[in-house]
Amino acid sequence: MKPKLKIFKNKENLFQDGAEYISGLMQAAIRERDACAMLLAGGSTPEGLYRALASPPHTSAIAWEKVFLFWGDERCVPPDHRDSNYLMTKRTLLEKINIPDRNILRIPAEKEPAVAASEYETTMRKFFGDPAGYPVFDIVLLGIGEDGHTASIFPDTKGVDEHVRWVSDIYVPRAKTYRITVTLPVINNARRIVFLVSGAAKADIVQKIYDRTNLAYPASLVAPVHGELIYLADMDAGKNIDIT
Ligand code: 6PG
Repeated sequence: MKPKLKIFKNKENLFQDGAEYISGLMQAAIRERDACAMLLAGGSTPEGLYRALASPPHTSAIAWEKVFLFWGDERCVPPDHRDSNYLMTKRTLLEKINIPDRNILRIPAEKEPAVAASEYETTMRKFFGDPAGYPVFDIVLLGIGEDGHTASIFPDTKGVDEHVRWVSDIYVPRAKTYRITVTLPVINNARRIVFLVSGAAKADIVQKIYDRTNLAYPASLVAPVHGELIYLADMDAGKNIDIT
């Protein structure tokens, strides 16, 4: 199935209208299943979306006590480190919404990478009832790096070939550091996968990922098994996509 594509006039519209769209998906999940399990993206692009989600009407429209937040990846730093995806989310979203602490499932990335990955997988398995297959997240939010990575699944790393584990610890040579990442089988088992992309610098890679011309790009391997793939892009990031 072709991905759904929503292109917004500019970054501000991407965040405001994108938040509206995500809020709708969250409320629909809660209506249908009385809960919304969401995998959050890191990096810088989601900041504006999280701020919009942490603003009216979403702060009251979403039953946050029924939302369960996980992260798709994390840098191997403490949760108060400036590079922490958790810290970014805390500042832009978590501090502004009425969500119980028990609903925030942070990656313990301050621990040894292998321990952090193993513990996070255990946390996830407990939440989802340790299913035989992979967990089914209601919403997975992802960014795309200019090298075609997504979450912390980078080109030419073992993360691309992981089909057993739900969470991996990966050494990323180009970043000279370890990362913790949820794996592709978990991402692809979601009901809805949303790529959030902004800025002209992403235009080339976004077109290549959308057209799936080169499966060496990990983001090209994001293909929902049962669900839907949606691109939320501003005009700058989406300008090379052929929508005919
Ligand atoms: C991370 C992210 C990563 C990010 C892309 C895009 O931890 O950095 O999970 O996959 O989504 O690198 O990052 P920007 O949004 O900053 O361009």
